[in-house]
Amino acid sequence: MEHAERIKRLPPYVFAEISRKKKEAMAAGKKLIDLGIGDPDRPTPPRILEFIKEASDNAENHRYPIGAGSRVFREAAAGWMAKRFDARLEDDEIVALIGAKDGITHLPLAYVNPGDVVLIPDPGYPGYIAGTIMAGGEPYMMPLSKENGFLPDLDAIPADIYKRAKIMWLNYPNNPTSAMADFTFYEDAVSRAKKYDFLIAQDAPYSEIYFREAPISMLEIQDAKKHVIEFYSMSKTYNMTGWRVGFAAGSKEAVNSLLTVKENMDSGTVSALQAASARALLECDKEAADIRALYKKRAEAGFDALKAAGYSPLEAKATMYLWVDVPAGFKSMNFCARALDEAEVVITPGIGFGPSGDGYFRIALTVEEEIMLEAISRLKGIKI
Ligand SMILES: Cc1ncc(COP(=O)(O)O)c(C=O)c1O
Repeated sequence: MEHAERIKRLPPYVFAEISRKKKEAMAAGKKLIDLGIGDPDRPTPPRILEFIKEASDNAENHRYPIGAGSRVFREAAAGWMAKRFDARLEDDEIVALIGAKDGITHLPLAYVNPGDVVLIPDPGYPGYIAGTIMAGGEPYMMPLSKENGFLPDLDAIPADIYKRAKIMWLNYPNNPTSAMADFTFYEDAVSRAKKYDFLIAQDAPYSEIYFREAPISMLEIQDAKKHVIEFYSMSKTYNMTGWRVGFAAGSKEAVNSLLTVKENMDSGTVSALQAASARALLECDKEAADIRALYKKRAEAGFDALKAAGYSPLEAKATMYLWVDVPAGFKSMNFCARALDEAEVVITPGIGFGPSGDGYFRIALTVEEEIMLEAISRLKGIKI
């Protein structure tokens, strides 16, 4: 049967080749070390599991969740935003999500008509393109380069593109490059959003995985709220990827528009998880700090080991990834294929995140340190 245009327009899954090779190697009994997936290896902290068990015992939580999320969850999210940033949010400026991905892929349906432009970082999380295409929009890629600190060059975007733009995606701390954005950059982006009347969607699931100064929120910028929606997630902050909870915060209009899409597409985030997540947001700073410290330690150890092995990693300021130059003479795909074949290590080719990622590979810091170091020592052998 003929597929819809929106499915045909989705970019080919560039990780498919690596994933096929990975399956073959595993079937052949090879002991791969997988540094490919950005999914925390450690379990959800015991206290949060207790919160989930308690909330599951409450029959009130067994019914359909309500629209924007429970009052308790939204108040906790607002409280967390106020504790963590200089950002005050009302109830109707927050919507609970089934993880950040839910909001990321649904937001364009609220704003983007066929032919409208969505500005997307390259390299970037694939959900930005997928959501844009599902809505019939046109992705306009904003290259992130080492020279620009992996920030998009806002002056390089033509005025006619800005005029057709409905949404600009930003993602700091950034996956895959680990870069952070500062106040000046955010102010510049907000001034363009005001001038051309588009929405900035700042995807911040790594806001709590930082190694030096804590990332700021775009909602801290004066008068930015009307043009900004931010996406936060329990996934990485509290090792909760499998539970699927996040929230969007910012422009009341954008939050409500996203809610309109969601109310027609899903029935909300599991109530027991909202209840447990509310408690985590208010009570589990220690757990979040421990997780942060773990990734910092792994990032530093991985950085030093890669350098010692002759690679050029970028110093990670945040996230759970190291972004590393592919050695001279390689493209990211053939380098990662060699890593799999010869070193039995799974790493992610930069091109999987967009054409500007091609000179790099990404290491996920989601295995224990000694295993990561073993993987890096194996990679040493394939450099030339
Ligand atoms: C940049 C970015 N945004 C969003 C997500 C999805 O997060 P969630 O688990 O909250 O849906 C990820 C997950 O890896 C990510 O890297």
